[in-house]
Amino acid sequence: MAKSSNKSSSKTRSQPTSKGKPGSKPTKATRTESPSIDIGIDAKDRADIAAGLAHVLADAYTLYLKTHNFHWNVTGPMFNTLHTMFETQYTEQWAALDAIAERIRALGFNAPGSYAEFARLTTIREEPGMTAAPAWHDMVQQLVDGNEALCRTARVALDVADDADDAPTEDLLTQRLQTHEKYAWMLRSMLQ
Ligand SMILES: [Fe+2]
Repeated sequence: MAKSSNKSSSKTRSQPTSKGKPGSKPTKATRTESPSIDIGIDAKDRADIAAGLAHVLADAYTLYLKTHNFHWNVTGPMFNTLHTMFETQYTEQWAALDAIAERIRALGFNAPGSYAEFARLTTIREEPGMTAAPAWHDMVQQLVDGNEALCRTARVALDVADDADDAPTEDLLTQRLQTHEKYAWMLRSMLQ
């Protein structure tokens, strides 16, 4: 009986252009420089848009984490309402992170993907989780501020995308603005 092995040999690989395992040597086809991109947006505009989106992604990730942190650590008479409300918001925000990062990739650039990069790029202040948690109304105010900050960052990036006629980025950022302006309104209403 022939011994089976998960290791595939490059000699016996029937499809040399298929993706290799992470860390594997690139095939001949991938050793060349990156293919050029010609989607009708020049390289300078693509770089400016991607830089704007990197700031949006950093704000979005930081706000996502803060909302999840408050879902875990909220206390007081508003516990049930806020625990559930925060979960609804962070679940939607988590899904949106991927779309923002993949738009940066589609424009030809790498997306930030580490806590250090997000901390450097974000305009939103983190809140530690392990020390004494803020009172519920302080949490709500912080999330109002965070959603508003993200809207300001998204508007800057939207302006750049608009100037370059980058409709997919404009569409993505318009949707994010609608969501975060709505969240800011809902959270703000709890404080009135
Ligand atoms: Fe939970």
